[in-house]
Amino acid sequence: MRTPFVAGNWKMNTTVAEAEKLVLEMLDGLGRIGGIEKVLCPPFVSLVAIEMMLKGSTIKLGAQNMHFETKGAYTGEISPLMLSDMCEFVILGHSERRHYFGETDEIVNKKVKTALTGGLKPILCIGERLEEKEAGKTEEVLSRQVRNALDGIRPGGPSGGSESRQTQDEHMTARLVIAYEPVWAIGTGKAATGEEAATTIHFIRGIVADLWTEALAQDLRVLYGGSVTSANIGEFVSQPVIDGALVGGASLKAEEFVGIVERTAEIRRA
Ligand code: 13P
Repeated sequence: MRTPFVAGNWKMNTTVAEAEKLVLEMLDGLGRIGGIEKVLCPPFVSLVAIEMMLKGSTIKLGAQNMHFETKGAYTGEISPLMLSDMCEFVILGHSERRHYFGETDEIVNKKVKTALTGGLKPILCIGERLEEKEAGKTEEVLSRQVRNALDGIRPGGPSGGSESRQTQDEHMTARLVIAYEPVWAIGTGKAATGEEAATTIHFIRGIVADLWTEALAQDLRVLYGGSVTSANIGEFVSQPVIDGALVGGASLKAEEFVGIVERTAEIRRA
């Protein structure tokens, strides 16, 4: 059984004061909901303050990005070493990083590797653009994104490995979460249908089964993201292959986000 998972990606929104206020507004509501992993991903500058506020709660913290090197002359960048003290998760390969900041599959692959070896759990984002969907290329795009992002990351290690190495790597691969976020659904109010998302997520698990093993693919959590609200979340999480959501806009409203987490936990419990 996969534990359901809902993360809020606040993107480039909220000052530190606004972030603290938002956390205060959702802390009690989220704290009351069990049987689900709840993750907040505020901007970097708010991580320290929010980590303090979340101490002793069941709410986890994630970053929205990181560099693939652990330290060095990379002005303005944040390394996994700086994050791993306070964050459990890190969003990697978000379409906004890919499209506005030129992140290639190769860069995403380096980031996933460094995150895993640095003790962070990557939320790897993949998704096709509208023109790719219209050209019937969704599966081709997703297959390329998953295969490239996970290149060289496999149970048994890059060169086969000993039995203990294998156990270690299986543990490592189990820390990955994939978020399927069709680019045409992000911030547009035009979410995929539950059925559409389920079919695509089933396909994504198939790629992971092909790369790793069927058992590892079955353990892997795959989320849907793109215009998720408390009104439509049920459509997604009532599909057994969809383990939860990566929420953008609606995660900036306390009541909405708590509602999304509540509904997911409720449906998954049933
Ligand atoms: P919206 O929920 O605002 O569509 O954003 C989704 C997203 O990009 C989450 O990472």
